[in-house]
Amino acid sequence: MTMREQNNQGGKLFIRTFGCQMNVHDSEQMTKLMEDAGYSLTGQAEDADVIIVNTCSVRAKPEQKVFSEVGRFRLLKEKKPQLVIVVAGCVAQEKGATMLAKLQFVDIVLGTHNIQELPSLVARAGEKAKPLVRTEFQERVESLGIIVAPAPKTTSAFVTIMQGCDNFCSYCIVPYVRGREQSRPLQEIIEEVACLAQAGIKEVTLLGQNVNSYGKGSNGNFVRLLQEINNVQGIERIRFTTSHPKDFSPEVIRCFAELEKVCEHIHLPFQSGSNRILAMMGRGYTREEYTEKIKTLRSLCPEIALSADVIVGFPTETEADFQDTLALMEEIKFDNLFSFKYSPRPSTRAWNFPDDVAALTKNDRLAALQKKQMAQTLANNKAREGKIEAVLVEGFAKKKNDLTGRTRDNRVVNFSGEEDLIGQTVPVRIRVGSQNSLQGELWRR
Ligand code: SAH
Ligand code: SF4
Ligand code: F3S
Repeated sequence: MTMREQNNQGGKLFIRTFGCQMNVHDSEQMTKLMEDAGYSLTGQAEDADVIIVNTCSVRAKPEQKVFSEVGRFRLLKEKKPQLVIVVAGCVAQEKGATMLAKLQFVDIVLGTHNIQELPSLVARAGEKAKPLVRTEFQERVESLGIIVAPAPKTTSAFVTIMQGCDNFCSYCIVPYVRGREQSRPLQEIIEEVACLAQAGIKEVTLLGQNVNSYGKGSNGNFVRLLQEINNVQGIERIRFTTSHPKDFSPEVIRCFAELEKVCEHIHLPFQSGSNRILAMMGRGYTREEYTEKIKTLRSLCPEIALSADVIVGFPTETEADFQDTLALMEEIKFDNLFSFKYSPRPSTRAWNFPDDVAALTKNDRLAALQKKQMAQTLANNKAREGKIEAVLVEGFAKKKNDLTGRTRDNRVVNFSGEEDLIGQTVPVRIRVGSQNSLQGELWRR
């Protein structure tokens, strides 16, 4: 029996994930494939027979982190030569074999469309002297259909509804590392959701880079998908990410009012408040179109919570452009905002624009924006004090002995209660709204 065969019969897998929820879900799916091949998860890299680093290349910083993270495992490999090191995800897709120049000890480079091949590649890793590189794009990404059986007492699950992106926003590397937009068949998604519901899942989050354009060029569309999931017995809450303002149609907006399981929260990145910058980004909407959609949404669903992504320091961004972004924030009053400094990415259109906003200016703008948002987040959380919220209990809170869960509008609530409430939706009276969460008490009439 070779060393590799022994691994297949109960080796240990360590997996480290960077990036977005897509990557988190890909990691869940890779774990499932490896478990089916006889591996079990370990939280200690030192104990592992296989180490996977699932990478993100959306900005230069997370990409650099990948190199230091993988570099950390060189010592382990020196001590244990049969250790298999896999670099997966978006950096693997972007760099392919070229990343081996810096990381010669890596065994497998696995692109975003090739997850399915993981177990067979691992089984072969020891046979060949050369590292194995798989980064070909596939017309149909088989791994999209891997169903991850939820662990006991899990309340929520991710469901991929589409892969890739066709938008090519000028700053963004995602279309290059995830390929063209590809929707999964509607029926397949419904079956997966039903299967999760049967396993006890109460809440699904539908994943895609641009979920509102689901079904483009095939049967079904996003609204029909939401309607059908709304009918799946056992599912209580539906969330989805990410939406794109240009495809966020009146029909999708109506779903927040008409489908009772669609939760009152949307993540709708605006990226900039300046129409000139939005045009340079190639986003396909104006600031006015964005705010108009939010207005309609709020009129149909007043309880809606809003979060978004924004970039500061895009090429040529002036102080006036930045003030437009602050003014948009002031107008909308987001509940949460994820803000990033512009980072030039190879292959993208903006790579050829001058990265001409000084680093210090980017820092200042980011700090000003974050300060403003923190105050708004706190104010919105404080406004919940005294209210009674339906909380889906997810488990124990990190600190203390409290339970933790979420409101329908995606706020974290901690409160004291018994373990048997996990998985149930219970009324909680909010006592204190703080920066990152709400503190409450179980409401008994
Ligand atoms: N598909 C999603 C988000 C993908 S990437 C969408 O369209 O909204 C997540 C976020 O990273 C983006 O919303 C954007 O705010 C940020 N981002 C992407 N490329 C970036 C870059 N080159 N520099 C800085 N931030 C970037
Ligand atoms: Fe990137 Fe734009 Fe596609 Fe989002 S919609 S993944 S920002 S190209
Ligand atoms: Fe990063 Fe890839 Fe997601 S680049 S943001 S992990 S799609």
